[in-house]
Amino acid sequence: MSDIYVILGKFVLKLDKEELQRYNLRMNNLELKKRDLDVLWHPCTQMKDHETLPLIPIKKAHGVYLEDFDGNRYIDAVSSWWVNMFGHTNEYINKKIKEQLDTLEHVMLAGFTHEQVVRLSERLVKLTPKGLDKCFYSDNGSSAVEVALKMSYHAHLNDGKKNKTTFVSLSNSYHGETIGALSVGDVELYKDTYAPILLETIQTPVPVDMSVEAAISAAKQFELLCQKSAKNISAIIVEPLIQGAGYMHMYHSEYLRLIREICNTYDVHLIADEVMVGFGRTGKLFACEHANITPDFIVLSKGLTGGYLPLSVVLTSNEIYAKFYCDYGEYKAFLHSHSYTGNALACAAGNATLDIFESENIIEKNEKLAEYMEQKLKSFEGLSNVKEVRQTGMVCAIELKGYTPQERVNVRVYQYGLAHGVLLRPLGHVVYLMPPYTITPEEIDIMMDVTLGAINSL
Ligand SMILES: Cc1ncc(COP(=O)(O)O)c(C=O)c1O
Repeated sequence: MSDIYVILGKFVLKLDKEELQRYNLRMNNLELKKRDLDVLWHPCTQMKDHETLPLIPIKKAHGVYLEDFDGNRYIDAVSSWWVNMFGHTNEYINKKIKEQLDTLEHVMLAGFTHEQVVRLSERLVKLTPKGLDKCFYSDNGSSAVEVALKMSYHAHLNDGKKNKTTFVSLSNSYHGETIGALSVGDVELYKDTYAPILLETIQTPVPVDMSVEAAISAAKQFELLCQKSAKNISAIIVEPLIQGAGYMHMYHSEYLRLIREICNTYDVHLIADEVMVGFGRTGKLFACEHANITPDFIVLSKGLTGGYLPLSVVLTSNEIYAKFYCDYGEYKAFLHSHSYTGNALACAAGNATLDIFESENIIEKNEKLAEYMEQKLKSFEGLSNVKEVRQTGMVCAIELKGYTPQERVNVRVYQYGLAHGVLLRPLGHVVYLMPPYTITPEEIDIMMDVTLGAINSL
């Protein structure tokens, strides 16, 4: 094939076929970035940063790798905001969604039902801690948190307890960004601006570290609060074992066991927000299993569809469900809905995700991966700019010290990671790793070596 001439400003370039392909991709890339910034407002982003920090259009993804238009590949060490379980464009999940696409894409869930949602619910009831018997669907983590809060309040109300109007959460907690979910959160970065328009809630101290002593001491604080105010408290909502957006703070499972007992004593609901920790992140399928407890509500999303489609669910007990069950007209029904509740494609992705958990012994395999990561994490201990290294199951965190927020170490680590083929997205001064479960030991080596390089480069 003959050469092709491309006019670029004042220059004329002579390109062969391969060069032309690369040139076209690069132009697509540049064009996409420009078109994006013309019309998009990105989540959790100071948009002015993109004057100096380029957007990265992703052309395709497979396994743990994302690939841009220049052919650069990045290991997705954060599972694309903690949703991806079994790698991108997973063949099995793809197949199951495609099958569903030709059968039923969506039907409203009021008055109607379908095979995928029934099957997913049956499986979730079996897999979650014993005593969670009914599933209520929603579209994302925040809206499911809203569902759990409203259900808790409404259940007490239906019991004739009108004063249980307050929610308790842990210091440093994060439960999402909608007004109710933000109200029970406690991370200043997200909450402070909106404080004047949020619900009043109470924060009780989270255990300060991963020790049993810290768990006991924090549980005592919660008990004191209940002694004083339980008549007004509807529920306590917690992120079991790991506070994700709260800088990957981790605590001991004993705390969950103790607050379960306190909640029983003082007639306060326990809401376990497992949006991040659910589906194996902590080493068990659900984090509550570490404490052998059943919460009154468990909130699930993110990994529920393997990272494919927006879906969330709240599971609760038959006992709570029964409080809403009565003849029409008593204002007792839970009149909450979202248009896409129980979407059939998302439920098909959910069933495919559970198939993989079942057929491939994922929890056992993850134990080995977690052990391997633990070994590799040793190389971070003792670095002069590392305050603490911690790990719970498939989540690792390296907390840095000695930097001011203005130094923006998170952005520097992010940029170093991208330049070396790994997507890292530190939370302030905490660099964390939460890869898809399909990551291989060789890919863990690359991920850890680049992270070490990033921290050493600061
Ligand atoms: C523990 C927890 N709860 C709730 C949410 C909110 O989920 P979503 O972003 O899907 O609204 C998140 C999101 O990161 C989370 O980590």
